[in-house]
This record gives sequence, structure tokens and C-alpha cells, in this order.
Amino acid sequence: MSSKANIEIVEPRLLAGVVADEVIASIEESISERGTCSVVLCGGKTPGAIYRVLSKPPRVQEVDWANVKIFWGDERFVPHEDTQSNFHLAQETLLDDIGTPGPKVFPIDTSLKSAKDGAKKYSELIRKEFSIDEGEMPKFDIVLLGVGEDGHTASIFPGSEFKRGEGEICYSVKRSEDQFDRITLSADALFGARKVIFIARGENKANIVQRTIEGSDPVEIVPARLYAEVSEVVTWFVDSEAALSLSAT
Ligand code: 6PG
Repeated sequence: MSSKANIEIVEPRLLAGVVADEVIASIEESISERGTCSVVLCGGKTPGAIYRVLSKPPRVQEVDWANVKIFWGDERFVPHEDTQSNFHLAQETLLDDIGTPGPKVFPIDTSLKSAKDGAKKYSELIRKEFSIDEGEMPKFDIVLLGVGEDGHTASIFPGSEFKRGEGEICYSVKRSEDQFDRITLSADALFGARKVIFIARGENKANIVQRTIEGSDPVEIVPARLYAEVSEVVTWFVDSEAALSLSAT
């Protein structure tokens, strides 16, 4: 079953600005309704251009950053100074340029002795921030997600145990393909958000974008298809290259 997805197909050179404007509008809406906005950032290569556009005038002045809280949807278990770190990416392309008053930033702690400890600490941090008990889920305002060519999103990979319905907010991930462990928010935490923004760019994503949005693989095979369970809160921002295999709509 492929759900009616909300998809914005954008010229490659316009994608970063269009997504940045969507994020800004969503932040403004959240702050006007609730006085605050929690944003969950993603990593990888796609979001850097979006973060850069967000961190520069005119857009950077449009955001009431003092009422924004920033979290991460996943992290590699490497020092924050490491260029593979998703925190490092956001620091370089967004956080360092926002100025003051800036957002309240909640990086995933990767200095502990294990990714498992880091995941436990992040779960506790989120429970405290959202004043929720064990077993309850946070309700993030905006979650940004990318999609890997294998269909993963955040660090939820095909064939991995999803830890759904167990009240898990965040857990560690070991993969033989990686030189590092990972920490990821759970599907329940990510897709319980008020708004989910998926981003995909480049011809190399055309196949997985089509398979995710128009296919019917189970989420265990294509985790990004988790979107279909909450498609009403999800918008895909896809450039025209990544949209190449989508059926003409
Ligand atoms: C990570 C990301 C990951 C990313 C996808 C797409 O830590 O790697 O959070 O989920 O969003 O792998 O990555 P690209 O944007 O590099 O294609």
C-alpha cells in the first residue's frame, strides 16, 4: 500500500532554500502555538546546504532561535570534533553562525564508554526535557530525516530490530559496515512528531525514493517507509533528480 504522500519536487539548486523556508514556517507555527519548537536534525551529506542557508541572512534573522530546542535523530559514536559526527556537521553549517540568543542545543553525548550508555543518557535527557515518564514518548515538533540508498532513515537500518512499542526513545546500533557504533532515536520517537520532513537529493536516490514512496515493502525492509504510517504529518522534499523514478503525478 503506498500512501498518498505529500511531495514537493524542487529544482536541485532550489532545494536547500525551499526546505529551509519550510523549517522556518514550521518553527514559527510551533512557537506561535506552544511558545517553543523542538527540532530534530538529521546527518549525512544532504542537510548541510539546508543548514547553511538557515544560518545566513536573511533567513537566520527570521527565526526566534531563543525558543528553539535542537536535538539529533541519530549520531555516530565518534567525538563531536570528528568530521563524521552529525553534531559536528550541524555545528559547522548552522550552530556556529546563528549568534545569540541562540537555540538550546541537546547533542547526543558520545564521550561515554559505550554507545549503549550514550543512548541511555539521551533517552533520560529527552524524558527530562519533555517531562515524560519511562514508557512515554516525546512529541517533537519537527523531525528532519534523510533516506539512505538502502532505505534506512536516521540509523534505523533494513533488517535491524526496530524496538517499537517498547517505550524505547533511543538505542545504540552496531553494524559491521560501520567503523563506529551509532545511536538512533526510535521509530516511535521519530514518527510521533507533529511534523516530519524527509529530504532527498540526487539521482542516486531516485530508486529508493520511488521504492519508498510508491512501493509496498514492509518497513523492516525499507525503514523509510515508516513515513506511510503517519503520511499526514510527512512532507517529502525531493529534488528533480531524486524524483526521476516517481510515476508522473
Ligand atoms: C546519518 C544520517 C542518515 C542519513 C542518510 C542519508 O547519520 O548518516 O542521519 O540517516 O540521513 O544516510 O544520508 P545522505 O544525506 O548522505 O544521503
